Amino acid sequence: MSEKRRTLLVTSALPYANGPIHLGHLVEYIQTDIWVRFQKLRGHDCVYVCADDAHGTPIMLRAEQEGITPEQLIAAVGQEHQADFSDFHIGFDNYHSTHSQENRELSELIYRRHLEAGHITSRTITQAYDPVKEMFLPDRFIKGECPRCGTADQHGDSCEACGATYAPTELKNPVSVVSGTTPVERESLHYFFKLADFEPLLRAWTSADHVQDEVTNKLNEWFDQGLREWDISRDAPYFGFRIPDTRDKYFYVWLDAPIGYMASFKNLCERSDRDFDTYWSKESKAELYHFIGKDIIYFHTLFWPAMLAGAGMRTPTAVFAHGFLTIDGQKMSKSRGTFIKARTYLDHLNPEYLRYYFAAKLGSGIDDLDLNLEDFVQRVNSDLVGKVVNIASRCAGFINKRFDGVLSDTCSEPGLYAEFTDAGTAIAADFEAREYGHAIRKIMALADRANQYIDANKPWVLAKQEGQELTVQQVCSVGLNLFRVLATYLSPVLPGMARQVELFLDIPAMTWDAVATPLTGHTITPFKPLLTRVEQEKVDAMLEDSKHSLKDSGAGSQPARGPLQDDPIAETINFDDFARVDLRIARIARAEHVDGADKLLRLTLDLGGETRNVFAGIKTAYAPESLEGRLTVMVANLAPRKMRFGVSEGMVLAAGPGGEDLWILNPDDGAQPGMRVK
Ligand code: 2FM
Ligand code: ZN
Repeated sequence: MSEKRRTLLVTSALPYANGPIHLGHLVEYIQTDIWVRFQKLRGHDCVYVCADDAHGTPIMLRAEQEGITPEQLIAAVGQEHQADFSDFHIGFDNYHSTHSQENRELSELIYRRHLEAGHITSRTITQAYDPVKEMFLPDRFIKGECPRCGTADQHGDSCEACGATYAPTELKNPVSVVSGTTPVERESLHYFFKLADFEPLLRAWTSADHVQDEVTNKLNEWFDQGLREWDISRDAPYFGFRIPDTRDKYFYVWLDAPIGYMASFKNLCERSDRDFDTYWSKESKAELYHFIGKDIIYFHTLFWPAMLAGAGMRTPTAVFAHGFLTIDGQKMSKSRGTFIKARTYLDHLNPEYLRYYFAAKLGSGIDDLDLNLEDFVQRVNSDLVGKVVNIASRCAGFINKRFDGVLSDTCSEPGLYAEFTDAGTAIAADFEAREYGHAIRKIMALADRANQYIDANKPWVLAKQEGQELTVQQVCSVGLNLFRVLATYLSPVLPGMARQVELFLDIPAMTWDAVATPLTGHTITPFKPLLTRVEQEKVDAMLEDSKHSLKDSGAGSQPARGPLQDDPIAETINFDDFARVDLRIARIARAEHVDGADKLLRLTLDLGGETRNVFAGIKTAYAPESLEGRLTVMVANLAPRKMRFGVSEGMVLAAGPGGEDLWILNPDDGAQPGMRVK
């Protein structure tokens, strides 16, 4: 490597300390960990820090619900998080908490510097207040009817039915989620960060290649809308750091969260010989990278660089955003079992399967990533077991049994070997650019090449021919050397397998450069299987377990890293509940398109004398004209529901995974409109 040795500090977003790590989070930790391991493998000085994000109202309330202190809650969750990360081979150099002395001091320091420079202002605002619980309510803790479409049970900031966004004060019939009481409006003094003071700096930073192109576009939109002041204070009771010189004002969790990156690093400095200012001073030559999900771009590309610059510190070298995880093409869902906790996965499957699969699908953009479970099984088995590990298992036996584990004295295929080492330049460029999918494709093409070489030279045939010993040893030694190159390229993705390969080949810790020289006249150890096939039954068992493993876990009590479909399906209902559902045969008298709705059809249903207007989300599966005159089954006693397009007076039953594959229930021709179904 002719590149000079770089100094890098890398972070992943800090997970909230009140919920479990799930596969949605792991996209980011795996993406970051691969990058960090790659940098270390290349010989750079790269440090990876993280921490639990321990403050805020949800954590305070969850602890209260459990009858423990927030400190006890965050300590317990912190332990679980660290065990999950370690078992997924996420190799943090330090893992800390935002509820730490380092973070308190740094948050106060940064705040004071902004205060002195005039970037903090204060004014009285009106907010929803729970008079029973005696606390101000964050938007997410108020529910009510959407002011636009009237749908009940919507959060204080946006409506899931029609997508409207609004202020919590606009909700109709609002209630506090904490006590069930009607919130009142109350005034209080808040502190604001004057983000607009930093607009020129942020515009310059944005246009200087520190963010992805998609993010630049988003930032330009935000600049055009104007940068609003950011409310950085919360009133007591709040779990966080009290704002200096106030009695009952606390820093909003998002103020001290990114400072937690710095605090975790400071904690590492206290325990090692690293120098804090080398990384964070304005003159720092170190590179600073933040890996984040696309939902928290605003915090990391506007607030955070502004906070740093205003406090006289360096700004990030780059912020890398990624997309969300979907599973089998859909949002993670508790009832489908696809809200999979890291621990549930680990109970059934090898973490390296997932690391490989994510790597194979990750690019540098912010597109969502789909974990297709069928493809997952197939790809891991065919690539890792069928191609890569196969090279070693085909060659090792001959070397061990016939040649005392000793590889041939020379590499008999220098041209082929050079092809493999030369490919390293392009593969390294892919890893550096976070184009892991491209890197994996190149590595698998090399694995195919190595298998073709073994197929063409057939050591198992040569082994039966007299006088061919030398050739068998040479062919298998070439195979194992090619395997070593591949295992090295894959080691950022598969660190567990890499350690086993080091033992098997009896080599020191891998480095990218070491593969320049093949192993010759070198003794290896007996071969043990490096990776076994993924079994479909284990995947099924994991899904089944996931349906049951979420109780009391707090999952979803903070926004998930990625979309979570939080469906309210009860595990069981009693017979009386079932008996109360009035299922009737209905004739679809009319079916019409609804202006502005992608999925809905307006159905006029004839119940044998009575007609009902029902909106049904089946437009992707049925053209309206194909429905008219058909019989179906509907829930006839569902309370009318006001939707954006009108009132819906019931529900039509349909089955299928969705999209085009959706079938309304078709009763026999003998059925009559209005008939009861059960
Ligand atoms: O969105 C989240 O999950 C936050 N806990 C991320 C914080 S990242 C950083 F700013 F601390
Ligand atoms: Zn609405």
